[in-house]
Amino acid sequence: MAMLETAELPPIVPFDDVEASAPHEVTGYRAFTLGAFQISRDEYFARIEWPAKGQTRSHLIPADAFLRALMRDVAWGFFYGWVNFDSVIGTHNHYGKVDMYAGTFNGVLREAGVDYIEQFETPKIMATFKAILRDWTNEGFDPFAAPEETGSAFGRKHGDNLEAIERFRIATKRMPGLPDDSPLRNDLPVNRQFADVPQDEPEVHVADGFEGELHAINLFKYLSRSDVTWNPSVSSVCKASLFCPTTEEFILPVFHGNDRVEWFLQMSDEIIWDVGDKDDGTPRARLTMRAGDIAAMPADIRHQGYSTKRSMLLVWENATPNLPQRYESGELKPYPVDF
Ligand code: PHB
Ligand code: FE
Repeated sequence: MAMLETAELPPIVPFDDVEASAPHEVTGYRAFTLGAFQISRDEYFARIEWPAKGQTRSHLIPADAFLRALMRDVAWGFFYGWVNFDSVIGTHNHYGKVDMYAGTFNGVLREAGVDYIEQFETPKIMATFKAILRDWTNEGFDPFAAPEETGSAFGRKHGDNLEAIERFRIATKRMPGLPDDSPLRNDLPVNRQFADVPQDEPEVHVADGFEGELHAINLFKYLSRSDVTWNPSVSSVCKASLFCPTTEEFILPVFHGNDRVEWFLQMSDEIIWDVGDKDDGTPRARLTMRAGDIAAMPADIRHQGYSTKRSMLLVWENATPNLPQRYESGELKPYPVDF
């Protein structure tokens, strides 16, 4: 059996404040310590260990699923509310601090008292998560890509894919294509599943006196050229109203737990959503959304989507300050409409 030489591996993770082991002498992967959590991987699985009831508990997640979830958590800066990697492990964003938990939002593990939660300063958990992502993502594996468009996450450590994991959510100030704003995607190819999407841009005719104040883009064209999946990126900003369209294929790598209402507008094709209770995961609804359908995701649920054919989804987020507190205090109902 060939042993990996430590000297052949990339240098130590370039982050202060990250507790990492030396590379494993067989697999080549480092193990990480975050508070009382131990986080390691082998050829197939990420292993998360935590203390509960005087023992070490552990949970396994397939390495590809773990890296896809970790990539989203890092790229989204822990997002709104809860990012569940699966039914056991996840993070809860307190905007400045972040909880990592195991079993806390799983009804059975919580009931059995074998759950564990620990809070970290955001820079600390972010640095650790980035270091894991960097060390565990092998050459050829892109955690943002659809499974048919990427190589394998498995096996012993071989190379890395820094270019893929250093792609972050595009930070649009107002709209892509405006001067000094994020670029249109004219340099990216049209995705294989959007070959039929028209590529013409709208004609903009501005009335006298309004020059430079009107802007329009072909959003279908823009989305047809997205090279990532399940990654809402802000495409228009109007005060606290954020339109975050995204292209979806295979499974949303996380179960997102909402701390506010968010709206989905299905722009093409079809997504099936599993909706569960935010606190214990009990299934609550299964929703099939077809092109033109609109749904509000309540503030007290978690959801995960499935898209067989690559599809276009508009996620509408409300960035009004203090929404989590207003829902938690009962001032706002968890759903937007009384039927
Ligand atoms: C969501 O959690 O609402 C979400 C996340 C990523 C997506 C779509 C929806 O691509
Ligand atoms: Fe969501």
